[in-house]
Amino acid sequence: MQYTRLERNGNVAIVTIDRPDALNALNDAVLDDLATALDALEQKDRCLIITGAGSKSFIAGADIAVMKDQNKLEAVAFGKKGSDLFRRIETLPMPVIAAVNGYALGGGFELAMACDIRIASENAVFALPEVTLGIIPGFGGTQRIAKVVGASMAKEMLFSGRRMKADEAKSCGLVNAVYEPETLMEEAGKLASRIAANAPIAVRAAKTAVNLRTDADLDADLEVAMQLYGSCYETADQKNAMTAFVEKRKPEPFEDR
Ligand code: CAA
Repeated sequence: MQYTRLERNGNVAIVTIDRPDALNALNDAVLDDLATALDALEQKDRCLIITGAGSKSFIAGADIAVMKDQNKLEAVAFGKKGSDLFRRIETLPMPVIAAVNGYALGGGFELAMACDIRIASENAVFALPEVTLGIIPGFGGTQRIAKVVGASMAKEMLFSGRRMKADEAKSCGLVNAVYEPETLMEEAGKLASRIAANAPIAVRAAKTAVNLRTDADLDADLEVAMQLYGSCYETADQKNAMTAFVEKRKPEPFEDR
């Protein structure tokens, strides 16, 4: 695994997304490595922590340089790959904690929402900036955000693409706690160890029970969301915005075509 590390501390597993030169952005290889790390989890792993390498970014989203040239079919295939992987994380038998250590943008925010519990460092920043790139979230974020922060805040974040800092994320229930960057992983470890010390059958049953309601119709809705995601590709606005990001400049005004 080039882009993902799997470590263990007793019966707590820790997966680190490790692509620091692109702020841990998700391309096919990173998604494949994350899947490989999940394959390596065992029943003895009673809790999983997911975090990002470095001090600046959890995950800065899906890889815009890759998405820029995708056609609709390729976009849907890439979106489905990430969406299926995040659904797998959501339905892992053990609880999953996202330790959000910086930027959690686009696909990074979507991954954090697929986790059971989110804690963050003081420098964490959350946003769904996809509409500024001519698309919508492709890894299931449209279906999860309202369940996490309520419909009104969800729509504000989705429609505006604005950034939310850690203190606001805490106040709207997006994260459970905020810590100094230096102590985030220690605190994540303490919470994970506490969970891992409890009766595993009971913890798994609790996770399944809570997810019964949130999972109702989710798979069907994710399919529809994926088609909507694909419909944003091969548009002038998507090409304009993603090309501008890669060329490190502002996009031209959007043209609605
Ligand atoms: N995709 C590809 N490369 C990315 C990236 C991304 N999402 N985010 C950062 N990078 C790369 C940059 O291109 C840059 O690479 P180079 O050094 O080779 O030029 C490197 O990471 C460092 O980034 P910056 O120089 O931009 O660092 P910064 O501190 O000035 O800004 C940032 C940090 C605010 C996170 C900025 O990088 C940024 O806005 N990134 C894009 C965030 C974004 O829009 N994410 C959503 C993607 S869409 C998505 O995720 C869709 C989906 O659901 C499938």
